[in-house]
Amino acid sequence: MTDNPTVIAIFGVTGDLARRKLIPSLYSNFIKGRLPERLRIVGVGRREWTDATLIDHAHQSLLNYAAPIYDERAWDRFRPMLSYSKVNLPQPETYRNLKDDLDALDGGCSNRLYYLSIAPEFYQDVICNLGALGMARENGRGRAGSAPTWRRIVIEKPFGYNMETAQSLNRVVHSVFDESQVYRIDHYLGKETAQNILFMRFANTIFEPVWNRSHISNVQVTVAETVDVGTRAGYYDSSGVMRDMVQNHLLQLLSLIAMEPPSAFDADALRNEKVKVLQAARAVKLQDTVRGQYIGYRSAEGVAPDSSTPTFAALKLFIDNWRWKDIPFYLRSGKAMGQKTTQVNIQFKRPPNSIFELTETGDYSRNMLSICIQPDEGIHLTIEAKIPDQQIAKSVDMELHYENAFVAEDLPDAYERLILDAINGDAALFIRGDEIESAWKIVDPIIEGWASDASAPPMQCYKSGSWGPAAADELLDREEHIWRLSCLHQNSVNNGDV
Ligand code: BG6
Repeated sequence: MTDNPTVIAIFGVTGDLARRKLIPSLYSNFIKGRLPERLRIVGVGRREWTDATLIDHAHQSLLNYAAPIYDERAWDRFRPMLSYSKVNLPQPETYRNLKDDLDALDGGCSNRLYYLSIAPEFYQDVICNLGALGMARENGRGRAGSAPTWRRIVIEKPFGYNMETAQSLNRVVHSVFDESQVYRIDHYLGKETAQNILFMRFANTIFEPVWNRSHISNVQVTVAETVDVGTRAGYYDSSGVMRDMVQNHLLQLLSLIAMEPPSAFDADALRNEKVKVLQAARAVKLQDTVRGQYIGYRSAEGVAPDSSTPTFAALKLFIDNWRWKDIPFYLRSGKAMGQKTTQVNIQFKRPPNSIFELTETGDYSRNMLSICIQPDEGIHLTIEAKIPDQQIAKSVDMELHYENAFVAEDLPDAYERLILDAINGDAALFIRGDEIESAWKIVDPIIEGWASDASAPPMQCYKSGSWGPAAADELLDREEHIWRLSCLHQNSVNNGDV
């Protein structure tokens, strides 16, 4: 049997994501020889573009966002793969044109990946219009002697605005596509260091025996960004940090940390375990949440002057299962913070009995395993060591830095991995329908409580460049915990973190 040609149709090819990420990722995979042979990339948009306009656009995108790997001869081989098709997303009649364009490429016998890089309000239109023309149907007409053809759809976040809209979107998706054809993106899962959480846990034996409530005191996930709302107020002011970051990226990192070992590294086995973690989350008490807004947010262009949208959130969450019962998972994320860093810090319990003289702080520090997702990707293990020629201990760091350990390898962009996995039919790093709903089930009551419950903690202001409101520190103080950070640049802003 021969392989069928493959067509990737990028809806929203004129947009920012396609320019910054999708086109460079496809090109990078192309020069690494990882794309299927006979691949065509069809840009879909509502502008009056021609193939030549798209090719210019792609060229510019590579020069701007893939300059280090740009190569004139590779581009000459890449450009003939590109073409453009005009579609007005809400108008069903314009999809006939797209269908004709795609059929003309291969007589309708290709595999197809539909990539929705468009505003979420158009998801339903596109899905239904593809369905109406039978464009989601698989297996139909493989050429004689060819493998059956497949159809897949990649859907960007946000997937829904809350539980109800996510469920309704899932229903629309499933009215046209089988779940096995659906690839919901969370780009954090494409990050090398996020994937490495699985390798670290399940390709080693030393961590798993201590990966539980008997040895771990608390787990912290910090996703701090220095950028503010920038030009994205139109989207952000109606979303806020819970929908933009916590519902997806932070809960995904938490799932990877907290899940049971899957029986295989395949999409179902992996996602079954992640879903179980989310389903075991105890309802978060509003008193265990902090919401913040950076000073100046309300004067950003496009933000309502009386906006109550949080740009920072911190919360304490528990997972009610045998492994994690009563161990706090602290999550925090914010914009306009002191330093860009994404890290997971696992703090272990203190030794039950001290036989040495104590440190200046009066106790041993907790051992901490830090998984630095970005930047300065790596893993750090903080241990207590004897200070030479003294009888007291000091915390020292056993460090792994990707840039030293993997000198010959580049860290590919998350989209490079994800787009390739979707082409290859590997959904392990994509979010399943039930998983997305389980995540909404955790964050919805918090968002609703903040909006309407008089007992909810009030919004706190915080200065740009800080680590968020003081209330986020108090949240941990109550348990005698403290936010800890690792792998920061030397001159980092520090308001009490150790
Ligand atoms: C996106 C959010 O999903 O993730 C953005 O919409 C955020 O608001 C971005 O800035 C962060 O991604 P990264 O890869 O820069 O950490």
